[in-house]
Amino acid sequence: MEDIAVRFERFAELCRAVQRKAVELENHPEKRKRLRRFGPGEVASVLGISPGHLRNLVREPGFPAGETQAGGRRSFSIEEIHRARTWLHRTTGHPRYAPGRRAEVGERLQIVTFVNFKGGSGKTTTAVHFAQYLALRGYRVLLVDLDPQASATALFGLDPDTEIGESGTFASWLSGTRQVGELVRPTYWAGLDLLPASIALQHAEYELVGRLLERRDFAFYGQLGELLGAIGARYDVVVCDCRPDVGMLTLNALWAATGLVVPIPPSMLDFASSGEFFRFLAGVARDFRTTLRSDALDYDFVRIVTTRFKAADRNQAEIVRWKRALFQEAVLGEAMLDTALIDAAGILKETLYEYEPSGNRRTYERGLEAMERVNRALEQEILRAWGRPTES
Ligand SMILES: Nc1ncnc2c1ncn2[C@@H]1O[C@H](COP(=O)(O)OP(=O)(O)O)[C@@H](O)[C@H]1O
Ligand SMILES: [Mg+2]
Repeated sequence: MEDIAVRFERFAELCRAVQRKAVELENHPEKRKRLRRFGPGEVASVLGISPGHLRNLVREPGFPAGETQAGGRRSFSIEEIHRARTWLHRTTGHPRYAPGRRAEVGERLQIVTFVNFKGGSGKTTTAVHFAQYLALRGYRVLLVDLDPQASATALFGLDPDTEIGESGTFASWLSGTRQVGELVRPTYWAGLDLLPASIALQHAEYELVGRLLERRDFAFYGQLGELLGAIGARYDVVVCDCRPDVGMLTLNALWAATGLVVPIPPSMLDFASSGEFFRFLAGVARDFRTTLRSDALDYDFVRIVTTRFKAADRNQAEIVRWKRALFQEAVLGEAMLDTALIDAAGILKETLYEYEPSGNRRTYERGLEAMERVNRALEQEILRAWGRPTES
């Protein structure tokens, strides 16, 4: 029999090999992840104009014309969408085309933390789609991957082991070996930067505990907040994707946050663990408020998002109805639908935005529409926090 340690070591290597293969497949042929182009309907919707208006605009001097394929259909890159928005803002002066926050009138950096005890509850999926949604609409976004399992990082086509490695995470900033500017990187999704993770992020947990043991007054909870304070001026919204537990990294994300999103799938087990999670949060809030600051965890919003919702499942539909009745406005009215396409896209390291469905277009569109509604509702929370007019 093979030694058990040797066997696990071998399995670890095999997983690495499969992962490398997946990254290779995804990045082929340019060896870098790239974003698909967007059709006129999507572009018009993202810019908030009618398709007819877009057709006229592409003839205007200086407005990005996109690329025209055989058959006359146009497509636009995300950079062209951003240029189009800037053009619209220059020519119309309408604030809708400059959605970013206005620090000069007191709109503060929004730090939205996606958190829950339980793995598989849709934190990463919801957080990454939300970050991409915001960037597409012209906000300056930083996505912070706070999970050493680095699934958000991998979704951006980066190999956590080889490309992020020992020195590329928040842990290196904590130990003082890297400046924040050396860690945050632009992604192929223009307007969205990433503070990536790798397994090395685990060192941050030990480092924070170690420093607290050395010095009782060490602000173990405030380090991420400090890092974000140093670069926050560059962004409108920070999206933090947490690991499924409540270690030091999660406490930092809870402390830094201005808003919380708690993804919960409609199943009994998920409610059981979410109950534990809220009890834990209550304890943290009491603790922080008595020992640190009376307004600690004073969030602009806390919203529960139903994830992985199978609308056709009568039990799930019943649970969701019940949950809305009990939690009322704390639960987002919109839910992320459970769709095999999110899984299929995930295997390709893609989000729903990037996935090109081969089969049922209608299923794809339903999933995308539900996801957009969730994102729009969360965007409203940010606008409300900035004191802007909202849709609801
Ligand atoms: N709405 C959904 N429909 C189908 N699969 C989903 C959906 N949301 C998440 N998944 C899948 O469930 C798994 C766990 O989701 P993930 O977002 O990584 O959860 P977490 O970050 O909470 O651990 C992933 O394989 C993901 O592709
Ligand atoms: Mg995750």
